Amino acid sequence: MKYRCGKCGHEEEVSTKSFQCECGGLWILEYEPILKKEDIDRNVWNQFRYHRFMALEGEEWREVTLGEGKTDIVKDGDLLFKMDYMMPTLSFKDRGAAALIAHCKRLGIEEVIQDSSGNAGNSIAAYAAKAGIQCNIFVPEGTSPKKIEMIESHGAKVDIIPGSRDHCAEAAREKAEKEQIFYASHVYNPFFYEGTKTYIYEVFEQLKRIPDNIMIPVGNGTLFLGIMKGLEDLKRSSLIEKMPKIYAVQSEGCNPLERAAKEGLNAPAKIIPKKTKAEGIAIGIPLRGEEILKYAKKHQVQFLTVSENIIGKAQSLLAQKGTYTEPTTAAVYGAYLEHQKEFEIGECLISLCGAGLKGK
Ligand SMILES: Cc1ncc(COP(=O)(O)O)c(C=O)c1O
Ligand SMILES: [Zn+2]
Repeated sequence: MKYRCGKCGHEEEVSTKSFQCECGGLWILEYEPILKKEDIDRNVWNQFRYHRFMALEGEEWREVTLGEGKTDIVKDGDLLFKMDYMMPTLSFKDRGAAALIAHCKRLGIEEVIQDSSGNAGNSIAAYAAKAGIQCNIFVPEGTSPKKIEMIESHGAKVDIIPGSRDHCAEAAREKAEKEQIFYASHVYNPFFYEGTKTYIYEVFEQLKRIPDNIMIPVGNGTLFLGIMKGLEDLKRSSLIEKMPKIYAVQSEGCNPLERAAKEGLNAPAKIIPKKTKAEGIAIGIPLRGEEILKYAKKHQVQFLTVSENIIGKAQSLLAQKGTYTEPTTAAVYGAYLEHQKEFEIGECLISLCGAGLKGK
């Protein structure tokens, strides 16, 4: 199986240890499965029940899994909440980390480095621990102490990097390159998306259809890209006739993709990120921004921003419904509350993607 460089088209075996092409382009995994009901592995009670539709070589996932996925969908009026905060490390990132670390295990990797605002680092640390892989996570200053405590509890080394989230990513890349450590990045490594796409496979298996509207938080776009891939797989396999309406949510203080879409740009707009409660989507320079915008154009994705003062209220409202989620998750619900009338959004799927217990 091969990666293709998104910039120069160069092809490379997926067994490569390089996290990007020599030209600086990002790897893309063009894997286009045909989904068939009878190919779901019903003996597997986690997201790897879809392993026949995932680009994984080998069966390392059997020893790496922590029981991620298979989350319920809970109805609340017009809203369908997918309970993805009920995961081994309490966020949807476990879907991606399980697939990526299974790939690392397959390659015989013994040490990984990663950067994260918290949740992805948490997931990678947990799955690396399960797989017996050494792990070093870089987090930006200001990351919640609870998240740091959880990462360290898995035996990972945590480096707190002063400055922005984007600077933190640069520091991790530098160390990975200098010390030749495998960069298990949820942004760079396409295998992460092989995990996040199971979100949509599950929705289809559960509901036997895809709801008309789907709202997705977008920082680096790991859930967004997984969902778009999963939907395209369903369409290619003639299981759905048309794509649902996708709403991609950014915070008003950090909206490089929303602005790019509004201004008709092919790359993320240059912005200076402001502080936001939604730290999970506070990404000023989303590296797969061009890829996200390409999908957005192809499928008429509507970008929305959520106002900062709504996020806390939305978090309380969700808690009053019995779901204690983190501000980044509440930001999506907040965007729904803010824009539902304007866009006449009917039945809508929202991921409750991160638990409040970890937050500040
Ligand atoms: C709870 C939660 N929701 C959404 C996101 C956004 O994911 P992405 O940056 O991949 O778009 C994150 C990222 O850390 C997160 O932790
Ligand atoms: Zn290239």
